[in-house]
Amino acid sequence: MKPKLVRSLAALRRETARWRKDGLSYAVVPTMGAIHSGHTQLVTEGLKRADRVITTIFVNPRQFAANEDLAKYPRDEDGDVLKLGKAGSHLVYIPEPEEIYPAGFCTTVSLAGPAKAGLEDKFRPQFFDGVTTVVAKLFIQTGADYAMFGEKDYQQLKVVTQMARDLDIPIEVVGIPTVREEDGLAKSSRNVYLSKQERQQALAIHSSISHAAERIRGGLDTQSAAQLATRTLMALGFQVDYVTVRNAETLAPPQHRDEPLRVIAAAWLGKTRLIDNVAV
Ligand code: PAF
Repeated sequence: MKPKLVRSLAALRRETARWRKDGLSYAVVPTMGAIHSGHTQLVTEGLKRADRVITTIFVNPRQFAANEDLAKYPRDEDGDVLKLGKAGSHLVYIPEPEEIYPAGFCTTVSLAGPAKAGLEDKFRPQFFDGVTTVVAKLFIQTGADYAMFGEKDYQQLKVVTQMARDLDIPIEVVGIPTVREEDGLAKSSRNVYLSKQERQQALAIHSSISHAAERIRGGLDTQSAAQLATRTLMALGFQVDYVTVRNAETLAPPQHRDEPLRVIAAAWLGKTRLIDNVAV
């Protein structure tokens, strides 16, 4: 199926108004493009819940710091639209920058709580204000019933869920398990930056946090498990931003043994930053 491609908010609203008139529900899959099977899985999951799926593609400058990879972020609009069509996305919204940040735009959506958990926010201080501002706009512009987010960006999932709740945006944020390569590496648009050798090394991030989760299930305390994983990654040449165990809902440090836990990690391999997480 060839999806309808729209670039203006007016055209988007014409389409969604038609769907509403016909009594159809719809889901949104927000992306920055460079579509891979992690994204198309979100489309598939959206189709299970709603009659229609919109995928948005917008490389959001506000979530990149000056020293980050905005300029070289992989872009392939034609390839993306093709893949999204195959996955069953009905509409692809690729807004012109002015549709998101028109001249004079001066609002920032900024959260505390999960957005200040000391994880991504500590290493990328600009990131969540950029994400929540653009995602709030995409939720409001699309007016979707469901928003599909991957668990790979676990803190992002918790932050946008909290934001929708706090701002009474009538959308259900749905978290979908991470899609992985056969050896366990989480699918990510940034994996294309890895050299052949780094690609081999990269699988250690998933294996080390999986071992940490196993050790915690086996009775090891959370701090020791995280430290062991950190040491393993460092010994393999990673520069580790963090490996930590957090409450799976609030992202706060764990208080007792019975709470739901998540092992969450971010580490550099050469010039590529990888993030991953697993449930305990
Ligand atoms: O996860 C991403 O690709 C981005 O952070 C998002 C949610 C599309 C906002 O720009």
